[in-house]
Amino acid sequence: MNDGKDWYAWHSPYTDPGSPLARRLRLVQQHIAAWLDERPGEPMSVLSMCAGQGHDILAVLASRPDARRVSATLIEYEPRNVAAARTRAIADGLDTVTVTQADAGDLASYRQAVPADLVIMAGVLGNISDADAHTTIHALPQLCAAGATVIWTRTRRAPDLTPAVRRWLADAGFSEQAFTAPDAVPFSVGVHRFTGTPQPLKNGKIFQFIA
Ligand SMILES: C[S@@+](CC[C@H](N)C(=O)[O-])C[C@H]1O[C@@H](n2cnc3c(N)ncnc32)[C@H](O)[C@@H]1O
Repeated sequence: MNDGKDWYAWHSPYTDPGSPLARRLRLVQQHIAAWLDERPGEPMSVLSMCAGQGHDILAVLASRPDARRVSATLIEYEPRNVAAARTRAIADGLDTVTVTQADAGDLASYRQAVPADLVIMAGVLGNISDADAHTTIHALPQLCAAGATVIWTRTRRAPDLTPAVRRWLADAGFSEQAFTAPDAVPFSVGVHRFTGTPQPLKNGKIFQFIA
């Protein structure tokens, strides 16, 4: 599970608002906020796979008076990232947020967190094999509640996997709501709505990070 990369340091570009990573983050945050705005007053559950320090969901919740209607589970393996996310959630009074140190590649880690109304899969699909990306996308119906939304990211560096990702999502029962692929930066952000039938959570591994 330890792929040798410093996933704590990976977050440093977020401090530069002009960095591609910060731009990607703002897009993800906008999609999360819009998703909440479209569902005013409803209790909602959010799952973030490989949540890192939780900059996306935690910043959005901290900015909203209705944060307490959202129960969020952040699954992250790196202990310093887990600690950073927990510290931030506590500082912002987000007591409906749980940060779990676990292997997000193991379906057992999701037992307490599914089915979720929103699944955030940011920084996952570009760090796993294409075969694991396919497996993970086809496992999403086990993580999603009926009508759930998935917000995902993927680099478009050659060979660009996003056409396959979008096709696999369609095959798995998702309809595309948005796909943003800005010029001059390699990232892309997608938003898909689950139109299929939720599936019971199975056992097994769906991905392993590669360095
Ligand atoms: C590319 S970063 C993305 C972080 C966050 N989602 C974001 O977009 O800011 C990938 C994250 O996945 C975490 N990670 C790697 N393997 C993992 C695993 N098996 N289970 C849970 N988290 C993992 C890393 O520690 C890192 O924080």
